[in-house]
Amino acid sequence: MVTILGIESTAHTFGVGIVKSGKIIANAKDSFTTSDGEGGMIPIEVAKHHVSVKDEIYSKALSDAKISEKNIDVIAFSQGPGLAPCLLEGMKFAKELSEKLGKPLVGVNHCVAHLEVGRSVGAKDPVMLYASGANTQVIAYASGKYRIFGETLDVGVGNFIDSFARYVGLGFPGGPKIEKIAKEGKYLEIPYTVKGMDIALSGILTNLKQKFNKKISVEDLAYSLQETVFAMLVEVSERAIAHVGKNEFLLGGGVACNSRLQEMCRMMCENRKDFDEVKYFCPERSLLVDNGAMIAYLGEIMFKAKANVFSPNELNNVDILPRQRTDDIEVSWR
Ligand code: ATP
Ligand code: FE2
Repeated sequence: MVTILGIESTAHTFGVGIVKSGKIIANAKDSFTTSDGEGGMIPIEVAKHHVSVKDEIYSKALSDAKISEKNIDVIAFSQGPGLAPCLLEGMKFAKELSEKLGKPLVGVNHCVAHLEVGRSVGAKDPVMLYASGANTQVIAYASGKYRIFGETLDVGVGNFIDSFARYVGLGFPGGPKIEKIAKEGKYLEIPYTVKGMDIALSGILTNLKQKFNKKISVEDLAYSLQETVFAMLVEVSERAIAHVGKNEFLLGGGVACNSRLQEMCRMMCENRKDFDEVKYFCPERSLLVDNGAMIAYLGEIMFKAKANVFSPNELNNVDILPRQRTDDIEVSWR
C-alpha cells in the first residue's frame, strides 16, 4: 500500500489531494476568485494566494484523510503546463516536503491528470473532451502517447466564457454565473466556428460583445453562447470517437461542471447507439476542476511505473514545465 500526496498549483487553485492505493482519501483546495466585474487573474497575485493558503490546505488534507505526514510515501506535483509563478510555488512546496520527509518526488502533467483521474469512475481508454480554462482539447491514447485530435485554435473555452462574463460585469470565474443566467435566456444566432477537428472562439467573443453593446439581453447571450459553443465541442468529440473507434467518452476540466454541457455529451453518447455502444463518464465536480487528488492519482500510477520519479537527493534536476504539451509525454505506464 502506498500513500501519495498530490499538489496542484498550475493556475487559480492551490490543492492538496491524498490517494491511497487508487482510492482518493482527501481533496482539499482553495481557489483565487474576484467578485468585481473587472478583476482577472494576475499570475504574481495568484502565486501569493497559493503561498498564503498552502499550510492550511496541507493540514486540512492530512486531517481529512485521517493520517499524519509520516504516513506519506510519495509526493506528486503539477509540473506543467501552467502559469510559471504559480507552478514555482507548488514545486517549492513539493520539494520542501520531499526533503523534510525523505520521500521521492513525481512530476505530473496537469492535463494528463485530468484524463487519468477518469479511471476512478471507470473510464479506462476514453476519448476525452478536456474543457477547462486554458485548455480545450479532444484527447485519446494512441501508440504510446495521448494524442490531441482536435483543439481550440485560439483561447480555451473557460477563458472565453470568463472573458465574456467579465465584459458584462459578472466577475471571475464566469462559468457558473453564465450557466445560471442562461436558464433565463432564449436562442439567437451567433457564429458557429468548427474548422476540421478544431474550433475557434475569439470571433464568437467579439460577436457577443458587439451584441451586448447593442443592448441584447445578457441572458439570451449566455444561453446562445452555451448552445452554440457546446454544440461545437460535441461535434468534434463525436467525430473523434467515430474516427479512433473507442467506446468510452470522458468529460474533464472545469467547464465540464456545466450541466448543459454534460447533458449534451450524454445525449451524443446515447444517440451513437445505432453505430456502437459509447459509455459516458463524468467524474464528480470536485475532480473536474483543478484539484490535488487527480495529481496524487496520476502520481501513484507514474510512481509504480517509475516514470519521472526523483529521489530527495536529485531535486536539483527537477524544474517546472510551463509550456509542456499533452503529446510531449511518453505514456510508459499503459
Ligand atoms: P487548465 O489549467 O486545466 O486549463 P484551469 O486552470 O483554468 O484549467 P479548471 O478548474 O479546470 O482550471 O477550469 C476553470 C474554468 O472552468 C473556468 O474558466 C470556469 O469559468 C469554468 N467553469 C467552472 N464551472 C463552470 C460551469 N458551471 N460552466 C461553465 N464553465 C465553468
Ligand atoms: Fe485544469
